[in-house]
Amino acid sequence: MLKFVVISDLHLVPRGALSLGIDTAERLEKAIEHVNTHHSDAAFCIFAGDLTDDGDRPSYERLSRKLAHIAMPFYLTLGNHDDRPTFLEVFGPGLAAPTGCIDDLIDAEGYRVIILDTLHEGTDGGVITPEQLGWLEERLGEAKGRPVIVVLHHSICEMGVPTDSISMENPGPFLAALRAHGDVRQVISGHVHMSSSGVAGGVPFTTIGGNHFCLFPQLGGPEVRMPRYDGPGQIGVVLAWPDRVVVHQENFFDRHILQEDNAPGGST
Ligand SMILES: [Fe+2]
Repeated sequence: MLKFVVISDLHLVPRGALSLGIDTAERLEKAIEHVNTHHSDAAFCIFAGDLTDDGDRPSYERLSRKLAHIAMPFYLTLGNHDDRPTFLEVFGPGLAAPTGCIDDLIDAEGYRVIILDTLHEGTDGGVITPEQLGWLEERLGEAKGRPVIVVLHHSICEMGVPTDSISMENPGPFLAALRAHGDVRQVISGHVHMSSSGVAGGVPFTTIGGNHFCLFPQLGGPEVRMPRYDGPGQIGVVLAWPDRVVVHQENFFDRHILQEDNAPGGST
């Protein structure tokens, strides 16, 4: 059985700063402590983008120091709040895949786990570039007959909520490539700062609440309202057996205080 952890939306800021009133560094420390204490048997941890709030060097350097405390191998990719050149300056150019993006690949326990960088500079929407799509199709082709799990920052479809305005651009070819493989069992994302699951274009997906604020959309009225809470902090714990995958959406931090009654959808 393969077990791994997904942590998303760290939104780390320089020392002394807060993000929307939240001490995101303290919350990352809690997440790492939780993973080290309760999931030391996990094979690895994936940090799924929005590593920083503003893509600045001091925040990436702070992240590098915090990551020294996690007691398992880890992988990083980027989200809309990140900056790829600054990230590579701090973490090293070797983390860029041949696509030029922070894509990666893990083969473990019969599974192939593919990590994709969906940062599209200058926008909050996500993108899989043509180069990434070609790389992905090759990696999926190598894994014919093996189950695949994909981890990336942006959710893979619109979800009937205001954050749809910053969803992934043109997901059709990406979803078609996943569907063509025939055994993509989960696509796990952050970005929307809410817990959800579904199927898009025949591909099952899960979103996790992440390490920053959480949105709890109220879907029942004429207007979808988006109350924003300062918690919980939520990670994904993935258990993958030969015949099934379960993504546990696990809260490691339960504070649940209303910050704004109807948050706009444009800044997750
Ligand atoms: Fe985010």
